[in-house]
Amino acid sequence: MIDTLYPLTASIEAGRLHLGGIDCETLAERFGTPLYVYDAATLAAQAEAYRGPLAAVGGRAIFAAKANSSVGVLRAARAAGLGIDVASAGEIAAAVAAGFAGSEMVVHGNAKGDDDLTAALDVGAGLVVLDAREEAERLGALARARSVEVAVLIRVTPDIGVDTHEKVQTGHAGSKFGLEPDAVAALISELPAGLKLRGLHVHLGSQVVDSVPLRSAAGWCAAFCQRIGYRPSVLDLGGGLGVAYVPGDDAPDPCRYATALVEAVLAAFASHGLAAPQLLVEPGRSVVARAGVTLYRVRTVKETSAGTTWVTVDGGLADNPRVALYGARYAPAIATRLLAPPTGTFAVAGRHCESGDVLATSVALPDPRSGDLVVVPVTGAYHQSMASTYNLFGRPAAVLVENGEAREITRRESVEDLLSRDL
Ligand SMILES: Cc1ncc(COP(=O)(O)O)c(C=O)c1O
Repeated sequence: MIDTLYPLTASIEAGRLHLGGIDCETLAERFGTPLYVYDAATLAAQAEAYRGPLAAVGGRAIFAAKANSSVGVLRAARAAGLGIDVASAGEIAAAVAAGFAGSEMVVHGNAKGDDDLTAALDVGAGLVVLDAREEAERLGALARARSVEVAVLIRVTPDIGVDTHEKVQTGHAGSKFGLEPDAVAALISELPAGLKLRGLHVHLGSQVVDSVPLRSAAGWCAAFCQRIGYRPSVLDLGGGLGVAYVPGDDAPDPCRYATALVEAVLAAFASHGLAAPQLLVEPGRSVVARAGVTLYRVRTVKETSAGTTWVTVDGGLADNPRVALYGARYAPAIATRLLAPPTGTFAVAGRHCESGDVLATSVALPDPRSGDLVVVPVTGAYHQSMASTYNLFGRPAAVLVENGEAREITRRESVEDLLSRDL
């Protein structure tokens, strides 16, 4: 399990989990719990797995900031050579704080406000992805008012389904995202002044474990461009590669995936008599999910007459909404007794006032007790960025570990922080 679910630097020393060369119990004592811990080496390796094959053909991997928008993680993504996909004025500000230049930004959002579009113009965003005709008109007007031209892609929904949770499918007909093919063709022929079209964008969905759907999207885009007589200079195939969350899940390899996409784009455009566009991809989860774990303290262990024994921890739904949102599964463990034999099967619950606040319904653990340190692996993506303050528990701190050192990149939210917006 440690080989597939935990960060690459994970090791077990005398039964205790170490990450980046540091004992997790030491991290918990120093920074408190719940605590997001990110391993810089894992993030860098995942980024490099994408960067290499794309750079070889003049393409680029763009980190989807929605997966983890903490500035410390964005800095690490930038250091690893990735560009940045941002979906709001807030994510643009975080990317700037992390050192990204506007030219490295691809700006998304299916209902961008003027604040988002203005922020994109202010930083000189490299590409804005148009999601609707009204948005094209508003962006064109904002650009003309500044006497600039904005490079844009148009997001198309090719009606290609993917095998994933319905809440993270996006490329099907009827999706709220993007424009259907005829509307894309119409917008291309009447693009508002102030915008210069660079190409197309497709994002089919998230937590998809193979390259088959995106390879067909590449073929679909080439055929569509040939049909409407359009020669794109950029094709952005979005993100979506999945990760293993529990033992036995598929653990796709980003390098093989990126290589397969490069080959598919080259072949598809050649077979339609078109020059290959520059290929962009926007991975989020597959860059950062496995780099992260969450540490919790056990609060109580409680048996019930129905047979479930609840192990409750000092976090839950607010720092990990994915169980409630998608029925996601996790494999919690006791971080200080990783090699001890299990003494039974337990359910691990959070501290929030919802019966659905459960991190795992059935997991084998070695005699869990109050005060034990629980680790939940594969929590680097869509945890911190989706965290809430439900029940007014402050959001966790986050640390980045590397070469035996831990750096706090997000401080824990205090009660004063929580009340500071109430007037
Ligand atoms: C437009 C776009 N690009 C990239 C991503 C990142 O997807 P993933 O984290 O699955 O790689 C998403 C996720 O929803 C997205 O909507």
